[in-house]
Amino acid sequence: MECTLIGAPLQIGAGQLGCEMGPSALRIAGLRTALEELGHTVKDVGNLTPRSFDEIPHPNGAVHHLGETVAWVEALSSAAYEHSDNGMPIFLGGDHAISAGTVPGLARRAAELGRPLFILWLDAHTDFHSLETTTSGNLHGTPVAYYTGQAGFDGYFPTLVHAVPTENVCMIGIRSVDAAEQAAIKRTGITVHDMRVIDEHGVAVLVRNFIEKVKAANGLLHVSFDVDFLEPDIAPAVGTTVPGGATYREAHLIMEMLHDSNLVTSLDIVELNPFLDERGKTAKLLVDLVASLMGKRVMDRPTLAG
Ligand code: ARG
Ligand code: MN
Ligand code: MN
Ligand code: MN
Repeated sequence: MECTLIGAPLQIGAGQLGCEMGPSALRIAGLRTALEELGHTVKDVGNLTPRSFDEIPHPNGAVHHLGETVAWVEALSSAAYEHSDNGMPIFLGGDHAISAGTVPGLARRAAELGRPLFILWLDAHTDFHSLETTTSGNLHGTPVAYYTGQAGFDGYFPTLVHAVPTENVCMIGIRSVDAAEQAAIKRTGITVHDMRVIDEHGVAVLVRNFIEKVKAANGLLHVSFDVDFLEPDIAPAVGTTVPGGATYREAHLIMEMLHDSNLVTSLDIVELNPFLDERGKTAKLLVDLVASLMGKRVMDRPTLAG
């Protein structure tokens, strides 16, 4: 398959700087080679840059870097549409605010193809704040509310043409939800599998059920992978670690099952903050996980990532 790597060094959506280095760390950790070794062809289009922007004030005084975020959302939405014409676009974040651009661009593509877009959101967080409800003001906490067409973005973020129906979103790994998000998400059709559901049932059945749903609808499947989905011990390079995350094997199993489904059409890797990493360990794990998603099997590997 043809894989397109698209760097999105956005960092001001997070509360801590450093995600700007995410695309570099993923490249240095060997993403291209890992994909090529699996027989894929890889085109790296480099990093995106947003147009020039002015700061935009918002009545919610906590909100910061709104102008810069909007410029990125526009650039990412165009890039996602453009690079989803063939093969597999892989967006190298950058903080999770990039998904406020990638998903709408992919939704436009899906609409053109007459197929529904589904989102698998692997994250400790639901990222379901609006500009009005966020208390941190960190806009990486808002993309799902935006791309599903919730209120609270009008006049600030680009007008959403192709909202993703909430019924098409499945979240796995959730363990940190703010009160306003909790209240808002309850009124939607989003499937939220928190860590307790994983503890009780295991990841396999959750992923299998979602895969069946996507398959039945002949959908496109976008996977949005937030580093903090993972247990912090194995993936320390993220500013928003939450204890009790997915294990090494749970994460790989999800990727392997997704590979076998043949349904995944695009991917975000987000929130990698190399400034917080330990000798590239998180970046290397992410490359391994992308490899699993793209066809590599753990049993084929001589050693585990160090
Ligand atoms: N809910 C918190 C906030 O809005 C945390 C969001 C973390 N999001 C992320 N993509 N890591 O500030
Ligand atoms: Mn985030
Ligand atoms: Mn997130
Ligand atoms: Mn998160």
